[in-house]
Amino acid sequence: MRRGALRGKVALVPTMGALHEGHATLIRTAGALADHVLVSIFVNPTQFAPGEDFERYPRPLERDLEVCAAAGAQGVFHPTGAQMYPGGAAHPTAGPECLITVPSLAGMLEGAARPTHFQGVCRVVAKLLHIVEPDVACFGRKDYQQLKIIEAMATDLDLPVRIVGLPTVREPDGLARSSRNAYLSVEQRARAVALHQALEAARELVERQGETDPAAVEAAMRTVLGTHHVDGIDYAVVRHPHTLAPLDCIDPALTGGVVALIACRLGPVRLIDNMGLGGSER
Ligand code: PAJ
Repeated sequence: MRRGALRGKVALVPTMGALHEGHATLIRTAGALADHVLVSIFVNPTQFAPGEDFERYPRPLERDLEVCAAAGAQGVFHPTGAQMYPGGAAHPTAGPECLITVPSLAGMLEGAARPTHFQGVCRVVAKLLHIVEPDVACFGRKDYQQLKIIEAMATDLDLPVRIVGLPTVREPDGLARSSRNAYLSVEQRARAVALHQALEAARELVERQGETDPAAVEAAMRTVLGTHHVDGIDYAVVRHPHTLAPLDCIDPALTGGVVALIACRLGPVRLIDNMGLGGSER
């Protein structure tokens, strides 16, 4: 699906399907930024490592098409694996023809747990941007590190597209919407609210109490997670909003705010969330 025949501005919303209200909001907001919104639905094999949930990833195509239409999308690009990867390269280690890496951002946090994940994301997003040629491409701040990496890729490779990050859509109790929430048991779902509460505690400390020590904020987030018996904490950190580098001191005047990021495991499900603190966008 190329933008070729479409007059006016085109926005692309890349997704892997299993669409929920977070995606629908992304599509609706994209509609305010362009004349036409196209959604891509492609469960991208190159961003899953062996043993991850690529095969099990839900693919409710009929329902997804309804969500796209109801949210105002004019078109859906739903390629097959063979169309996207005619060479059949299923995974970065299988020897793709081209790798795109953003080493300064991709090795840490999510990249530490999933070393080849962001190579796969960059590769598929670059391909989608070249195929569709949108004016604007919209991504959720829910996947904050992914957004920063895609911004860096687009800037460094002079991709002729505006990358827009949009706010995280949450359940009424604050849990960020995610297709993986459906895998949570009732008891795990109740504990999952801890992520948002930990981020709110971090915000309270930085914005209202003026805490400037990142270690104190990180300890406070861990305390809230512990209160909810979330012990599978991969990280609960405060970082620079652009470089994602650790900070010696939280100085919103210097950085324009900071970002708090959390990843935890609740049973079989790994959840991530983040929040801008002290002026950084939410
Ligand atoms: P997927 O997980 O389907 O997410 C598609 C887009 O929806 C991403 O930009 C993601 O950040 C955004 N999103 C997901 N949950 C959200 C929420 N609760 N609020 C706001 N936005 C939300 O992310 C991917 O797919 C893939 O890595 C992709 C970029 C499509 C490349 O394959």
